[in-house]
Amino acid sequence: MTPDEMKKAAAFAALEYVGSGGIIGVGTGSTANHFVDALATIKGRIDGAVASSNATAERLKKNGIPIVDLNAAGTLKLYVDGADEATKHLHLLKGGGGALTREKIIAAASDIFVCIADESKLVDVLGRFPLPVEVIPMARSYVAREIVRLGGEPVFRQDFVTDNGNVILDVYNLEILNPVETEQTLNQITGTVTNGLFAQRPADVLILGTGAGTRTLK
Ligand code: A5P
Repeated sequence: MTPDEMKKAAAFAALEYVGSGGIIGVGTGSTANHFVDALATIKGRIDGAVASSNATAERLKKNGIPIVDLNAAGTLKLYVDGADEATKHLHLLKGGGGALTREKIIAAASDIFVCIADESKLVDVLGRFPLPVEVIPMARSYVAREIVRLGGEPVFRQDFVTDNGNVILDVYNLEILNPVETEQTLNQITGTVTNGLFAQRPADVLILGTGAGTRTLK
């Protein structure tokens, strides 16, 4: 099975968590794209979806799934999204696609967060994948200096603006042994919007596509 087939298998397995009625939160990335395609096969069962990015909103619309503003949706029963890294504790590192802030908002506003990924995303310690930090543009240099003081190596993501009009610093060489603490510490740097650690609000379920079907961690 290729990694893409594993992503697709995880995405279709997440349909099990989609009840009848209600509005579903949908993430961003190639695995979340598979979930949009999966959701399209049962779209009559849901009232609509909240998208974590403009790209996902476009894909949902093309599949005939109504887009709902989070402010009008109330608490969502379910949010489904991919990850760049995940641990067995269901702590995640996300934001490779730059949609981390909207993803984190939807995760926070959802009762159940199901993360879908291929098995290569499962790691013992987060941080080999550079940690994205979304930053207000005028604070970019200041936040980068503060991150260096904390031991990270921030790299400005070139030619990229988030859906919120901000920029991304990708932080290398952080060994994230305490994800909750690192998430809080980075978020306290003035000018930071948020970082890609999902530890204070981890996933509730992690579905991994593997060479031998899917594996679920809770
Ligand atoms: C988007 O900003 C990210 O958080 C994605 O969830 C992450 O990059 C996973 O992407 P893939 O599903 O493409 O691996």
